[in-house]
Amino acid sequence: GSAAYDTDVLVVGTGPAGATTALALATYGIRTRVINQRSWLANSPRAHITNQRALEVLRDLGVEDAVRRVGTPWELMGDMVFATSLTGDEVARLRTWGTGDDRRSDYLTASPCPLLDLPQPLMEPILVDGAAVRGAQVSFNVEYLDHHQDEHGVTSTVRDRLNGQQSTVRSRFLVGADGARSRIAEQIGLPFEGRMGRAGTVYARFHADLTALVAHRPSILHRILAPAFGEIGMRTLRVVRPWTTWIAGWGYDLDDAPDLDHAPAERKIREMIGNHDVAVQVENVSAWQVNQAWATEYSRGRVHCAGDAVHRHPPSSGLGSNTSIQDAFNLAWKLAYVVRGWADETLLDSYSEERAPVGRQVVARANQSRLDYQELNDLLDPDAAKLGQPSIVHLREAGPEGVAARDALAAAIARKNFEFNALGVELGQHYRSGAVVPEGDAGDEPDAEDAVLHHRATTRPGAKLPHVWLVDAQGRRISTLDIVGKGRFTLLTGLAGTAWVTAVDRLSLAFLDAVVIGADGTRDLYHDWARRRDMPEGGALLVRPDGYIAWRCAETVGDEHAQELLGATVATILSSS
Ligand code: FDA
Repeated sequence: GSAAYDTDVLVVGTGPAGATTALALATYGIRTRVINQRSWLANSPRAHITNQRALEVLRDLGVEDAVRRVGTPWELMGDMVFATSLTGDEVARLRTWGTGDDRRSDYLTASPCPLLDLPQPLMEPILVDGAAVRGAQVSFNVEYLDHHQDEHGVTSTVRDRLNGQQSTVRSRFLVGADGARSRIAEQIGLPFEGRMGRAGTVYARFHADLTALVAHRPSILHRILAPAFGEIGMRTLRVVRPWTTWIAGWGYDLDDAPDLDHAPAERKIREMIGNHDVAVQVENVSAWQVNQAWATEYSRGRVHCAGDAVHRHPPSSGLGSNTSIQDAFNLAWKLAYVVRGWADETLLDSYSEERAPVGRQVVARANQSRLDYQELNDLLDPDAAKLGQPSIVHLREAGPEGVAARDALAAAIARKNFEFNALGVELGQHYRSGAVVPEGDAGDEPDAEDAVLHHRATTRPGAKLPHVWLVDAQGRRISTLDIVGKGRFTLLTGLAGTAWVTAVDRLSLAFLDAVVIGADGTRDLYHDWARRRDMPEGGALLVRPDGYIAWRCAETVGDEHAQELLGATVATILSSS
């Protein structure tokens, strides 16, 4: 029984992965304890880009409005400048994060949640506060040291850093959300591929009111052109708070210690801003390394790792905290269902089966985005012109060298769409595991480029439920995503699917609801669901608590058969038969 455990789940780490795990578990009513060895949450800006899928997770967990109040809105995110400095020669622009006229509707069609730029120190308190308010026990200054697991649970040793005392915590499960230097991933011997430390970056956080230089071309990222350095992309000016708090980023040689003094950093920042009379106040200078490593398995028995603990990659493509939040959302409901006795422990195998392939793709994509600056760097290479290669020095010339330079620049910038307008990467994750009932023919695979840039919404099992707008009883628009989730399984059908509603009633499972699209409260007045559902109106979709489709029945069936089929399917997915 419960008394044998201090808590059901011990979560180590309050970064995006740990905080989201704790928030979700607390929301689902699971006894959760979350610890952080530090005295407070993230104190440097770190991740910002909060993509649509991460926001859908936060929407389900009831904190979307809270993060929108503190983040920088989508409209200000994406008129990216490539210039010699903010006051200098502008050589190109790219509309990023779907803000371009040609991509806006793709993003709006794919999700009810527009992107948001959200500094990590502003996001983490919202997640951790939500977890605590909903009953999670949150402790700072508590360091995780070690654990051992047995058939029934995990005993972890922790140390109170204020008084040095060690104690143990007995839990059913342990979640290692302890970041890129994860002790837990190492202790359980998770297999890693790739390598750490591929390139070095210095980040200088500073205050300067740059409104006059950027407000007319609003963007949260600006690329400052300079001859390249190692494997790192470009010099960057990155907004923390528009347009007064910033990060300047540049590469350093991994063979030397990075220079973290404020005076040279300020000189470099002034160079990047350009010859402009603006007060610059450097607040902090730190260094971090670009990694390219991923675990091929995320779990050992009762111990599950999430976030940077299992995938380590650069910020290019903005996938770090987004992927961590999605790991957490995938894991949390499974832990909750096992703790509640609704699912067998083998359901947890599907966590690693589903998320490890995503982690590998994300690490590959983020590193490719970093390497995709090569063509641009080649153009900036001081020797390019001498060697007869296209060079930036010819950019405005009338002759063939000018044409070649302009063509090469346009191609190099277009390649950056794979980093900055990659809706397919952000939303197109498809799960294969024991928690999804596959359908035979997978249909046409999109070509690789298309799969990066575009999201193809589908009701095929393993995909996330397509978003369309419905109309509620008050006449307001609600998303299909709003009628599923919240820790529950949902059987979605149409007015013709009466057998499915009867089946859900008769099965009377504590975690399963039927929702009829077309009924009061969920009217399909725009007919978007009819166009998108990709099955007859009387068919059914079984949607998991994380908004992914577990099973599709593209047939109208009789009452008896519906109940039998649905009961057996749920049992298969939860391994509870
Ligand atoms: P995260 O590292 O956030 O959290 C780990 C948690 O575990 C912390 O709370 C830590 O204190 C705790 N912990 C560790 N060991 C412990 C122990 N033994 N006992 C108790 N607690 C322990 N990403 C991105 O997408 N865009 C970006 O621009 C950047 N920029 C960036 C800059 C810098 C300077 C850094 C350091 C990182 C980034 N990142 C980033 C990466 C991004 O911050 C990262 O992907 C997420 O924070 C990962 O979230 P996690 O929750 O997995 O780990």
